[in-house]
Amino acid sequence: MPTLFKRSREIRNYVRSHRCEKGHAVGFVPTMGYLHEGHRKLIRESKIQNDLTIVSIYVNPLQFGEGEDYERYPRDLQRDIGICEEEGVDAVFAPTDEEMYPERPLVSIEIKGLTDVLEGKLRPGHFNGVCNVVLKLFNIIQPDRAYFGEKDYQQLKVVERLVKDLKIPVEVVPVATVRDGEGLALSSRNTYLSPEERESALSLYRSFLLAERLLRDGNRDANFLKEAIRDFILAHPHVRKVDYVDIRDEKLNPVQEVKEGDRILLAVWVGDTRLIDNWRVGDAKV
Ligand code: PAF
Repeated sequence: MPTLFKRSREIRNYVRSHRCEKGHAVGFVPTMGYLHEGHRKLIRESKIQNDLTIVSIYVNPLQFGEGEDYERYPRDLQRDIGICEEEGVDAVFAPTDEEMYPERPLVSIEIKGLTDVLEGKLRPGHFNGVCNVVLKLFNIIQPDRAYFGEKDYQQLKVVERLVKDLKIPVEVVPVATVRDGEGLALSSRNTYLSPEERESALSLYRSFLLAERLLRDGNRDANFLKEAIRDFILAHPHVRKVDYVDIRDEKLNPVQEVKEGDRILLAVWVGDTRLIDNWRVGDAKV
């Protein structure tokens, strides 16, 4: 059974005693809970590379905008602790809002050019909230390595840059997106989808395969590919809106001519659920 901590001071002391007295390397998996196979993969990676693995479970209010799904976000701490136990996690940090934000934070972190495009453009303040909580969790836990899924590709790039610019002594380890048998990227938000909506949500993955086929046939123009992807997804029932389809290089700079290693990034509303996904060009041989 993992040890459960609610207080920053206690988990910091726990980590310190492991690191200082036993020389343990500490791996950290930050999550908002409602754990799934994608989180299990992050935990497994951490367990391979570290002596101690810590998972945080905290639905961070700061990264949700007005009218977003903060209230609705699925929560089940006992279930999550059970999954952590199955995966051999050493400790779970599940703080309260009072513990994380005893006062309204006055620090605001922006990463120019990175937090104001794609998700950052559509969800103003989102990455400020992510950076705030991630930096705080790094300060509390002081891990050697932290594990982030490529499913939230922009978040991964933002955190990498945060760590680089501020010289935070943490190695950020990217972990590939986990998809179900039909290609749907795993997300805690998939629980919102009805069976019919889930069927339409598969169009995101299938649009990546369409893009790979178009690329194979020599279509490299980013605008052409973006339009083809958008039209394909919008042709599915229950797809209410495409927030964006974009193609950028691996550092998230815009591209005109698409090449292997570039990223296709999507945000799509299926019913009342907003899904994001992304794809590394060249990852499927079609
Ligand atoms: O990816 C998430 O689950 C969250 O954005 C994170 C990194 C745990 C910060 O709240």
